[in-house]
Amino acid sequence: MKIPLLDLKAQYVTIEDEINEAVTKVLQSQHFILGPEVAALEEEIARYVGVKYAVGVASGSDAILTALMSLGIGSAGGGELTDAVVTTPYSFFATAGYITRAGAVPIFVDIDPVTLNINPAKLESFLSGLKESGGSFKTKNGLTVKAVMPVHLYGQMADMAPIMETASNYNLSVIEDAAQAIGAKYRDKYAGSMGDFGTFSFFPSKNLGGFGDGGMITTNDSDHFERLKMIRNHGSKPKYFHKIVGLNSRLDALQAAILRVKLKHLSSWTEGRRKNADKYRELFRSAGLTTPKGVVTLPQEVEHRYHIYNQFVLSVPERDKLREHLADSGVATEIYYPLPLHLQECYKDLNYAKGDFPVSEEAALSSLALPVYPELTGDAIEYVVNTIGEFFKK
Ligand SMILES: Cc1ncc(COP(=O)(O)O)c(C=O)c1O
Repeated sequence: MKIPLLDLKAQYVTIEDEINEAVTKVLQSQHFILGPEVAALEEEIARYVGVKYAVGVASGSDAILTALMSLGIGSAGGGELTDAVVTTPYSFFATAGYITRAGAVPIFVDIDPVTLNINPAKLESFLSGLKESGGSFKTKNGLTVKAVMPVHLYGQMADMAPIMETASNYNLSVIEDAAQAIGAKYRDKYAGSMGDFGTFSFFPSKNLGGFGDGGMITTNDSDHFERLKMIRNHGSKPKYFHKIVGLNSRLDALQAAILRVKLKHLSSWTEGRRKNADKYRELFRSAGLTTPKGVVTLPQEVEHRYHIYNQFVLSVPERDKLREHLADSGVATEIYYPLPLHLQECYKDLNYAKGDFPVSEEAALSSLALPVYPELTGDAIEYVVNTIGEFFKK
């Protein structure tokens, strides 16, 4: 059997006619930048997430940058580094990279070993060591901590209730990096609806993926809504009159039209992923592979959280050898993420060291993502589990 990590073609063939119709409509209109398709998608995403406003941008990375710029965090327009944003060291690079790109400094706090999301107790403990000065909180180096950016990793939300409470106690803004988590829930709240902003990615491998790059910011604040729209369009309002120095970061009408088609199917695709996750669980357990007796640690869905399984990530010993064995048997897997952000070469100057964030470092060594896409068959899931069983029997 050959099992890819993700089979976008299998999904595409089920919606090909709808996509062709939507794309043709845009081609006939010749309206390619922003316009009615983007505005309609923004309204639909805002409704889906349960917020007042949404603003389409060119990528999930730009969504982070635009949110930070709207908050006035960072010195992207020039000047000294004065601001810091607290986030997780265990995420895709853009989470930290775009804090840096905004002209601010990322500060890392380790993750919770169960959800692999930022650990609220460690966040509180870090913040409690800062020095207060006139309602803001400063690091030893004199940086003002302005915001916290939890990531809803793999499609399960971070523990938002204590994060929101802590953020409020330290006067911090909250940007939810919901790039991997559209449709995920924390009790009855959707990802991207709890913080000051939610930032989403429409990278093709996301649960709602475009046919190229794309992103969106959600917010309930009307001033930010206006500012975000300005920032994505060179800071201009009206056209050719620039209130601020912004970006060229607009969502294409073609992407918006495609995403509108796909949004209609999103809930059923998410259910397909969840069903596959359940099937993995059942098979791993009945094969006796899971801890404490076996060696495979399954991703845990925490109570009151609705996981959308953008990824189904195991923690396993001998991860690299197992990955090779799976590849030899035709099963594609991926390692998210092999090197935590605090140990990346580009962050040498932040002076973190190995051992600073042991939970993240352990996750980087043992994580293995299995195929979980909605079109994956039950037979394929059985084959994956049997292949893993074979490896650990040896
Ligand atoms: C957690 C996280 N943050 C940010 C991004 C950046 O999104 P994009 O690739 O659309 O720029 C991604 C996506 O790849 C992501 O997974």
